[in-house]
Amino acid sequence: MEQARGQWGSSVGFILAAAGSAIGLGNIWRFPYVTGENGGAAFLILYLLCVILICLPYLFAELVLGRHSHKNPVGAIEAIRGKGSPWVWAGALGVITGVGILSYYAVIAGWTVGFIFKDFIAPHLDFAGFTGNPLVSIPLFALFIVLTVGVVLGGVESGIERTAKVLMPVLLVLMLLVIIRGLTLPGAKAGLEFYLKPDFSQVTSKTVLTALGQAFFSLSLGMGAMITYGSYLPKTANLRTSGAFVAFFDTLIAVMAGFMIFPAVFAMGARPDAGPSLVFVVLPQVFASMPMGHLVSMVFFILLTIAALTSTVSLLEVVVAYFVDERLWSRKKSAWTVGVVTFVVGLPSALSAGASGSLTHMTFLGKEGFLGIMDYLWGNISLALGALLLSIFVGWVWGVKQAGEELKLGSTITDSGVRLWGIFIRYIAPVVIFIVLLDVFGVFD
Ligand code: PHE
Repeated sequence: MEQARGQWGSSVGFILAAAGSAIGLGNIWRFPYVTGENGGAAFLILYLLCVILICLPYLFAELVLGRHSHKNPVGAIEAIRGKGSPWVWAGALGVITGVGILSYYAVIAGWTVGFIFKDFIAPHLDFAGFTGNPLVSIPLFALFIVLTVGVVLGGVESGIERTAKVLMPVLLVLMLLVIIRGLTLPGAKAGLEFYLKPDFSQVTSKTVLTALGQAFFSLSLGMGAMITYGSYLPKTANLRTSGAFVAFFDTLIAVMAGFMIFPAVFAMGARPDAGPSLVFVVLPQVFASMPMGHLVSMVFFILLTIAALTSTVSLLEVVVAYFVDERLWSRKKSAWTVGVVTFVVGLPSALSAGASGSLTHMTFLGKEGFLGIMDYLWGNISLALGALLLSIFVGWVWGVKQAGEELKLGSTITDSGVRLWGIFIRYIAPVVIFIVLLDVFGVFD
């Protein structure tokens, strides 16, 4: 069984694949605009606290759950509680969320592909003109789904691992270049201040939820991606070290994305709270002011496309692993079926960036536009809910003792280390997430 499901080649392979899942549009597109909308530095601090206090302990919970059972999120819970257990729904929520996130994420990833060529084919079009044209956005969306299906079909290991190994360092260097360019623009200092000088007066509990949701999203947590990726790990793998590396790299790239965007935003006289278009509007302006800007822009969007692809692959992989493990479908049938369903579910998102007025301007829970609403429902609330259920499951139902035994395999965690982790996973994570969710649903209003 294990043989047929496949395994990562090495710890480095796993770290790269999991970091590939974590590092994506969430870091470079979503983190800067969400930070920009939520006050800058104060949000950054909340975000870092969420990563360290909630997400890191929770990441270990997903990894142990996956490696314990060598199964998808539904199968992992069934392996512990049996088939009829209501806890299985916590896993099912993750699988459904995979389709939900992928449906709009691939739309944005499609824009990224378009921006590789935009300077050459449609240099005069602005962001809205580009995304508002369904003849552009829908084929690009379809293309991205097909690319994702293609990678998942071929098996993730060698192709993705090898690509990530080369391209992640290139992304890092390129980001550094853009950061330096941005910092040396006149007027950049105001951006640094916005990003680094906290003003807590604007922080509400909604800000905390947004920070927490962003941290879950960025680390691919709350929907079982790390359960699934953990399920391809051998018992000898050191979950603590590998998990810590993944969280570190992901956070590093997000923090760097802020340094890339905010100085440039302020230098260009733009506003940091422009929303989802922030990266697509401001970065091209910065590139235009650089020597060989067209080339740099092209390379940048190629790398962003690859970062997005390693994330969409992990989203699809969760759903495919469910159909392969639980429904005994072939990988091929699973990947294509889920791909087509996701495309249909994502069409309104693709049309909601200008093409359809009603989808573009609809509002729900204070978010505007169908895509934005999907992002809030799946990429924020659903991940927080999933993480709440799964942390209670691991901490209380499965139990810190059993989970701790699995965590200790392959690493040198002491009993007191496990106990400390138990406190986080039983008390701190669920309580914080629960309070934050209550607030979203207006209980404290
Ligand atoms: N972490 C990915 C990103 O930052 C998105 C993602 C979320 C991937 C949830 C898988 C699961 O872009």
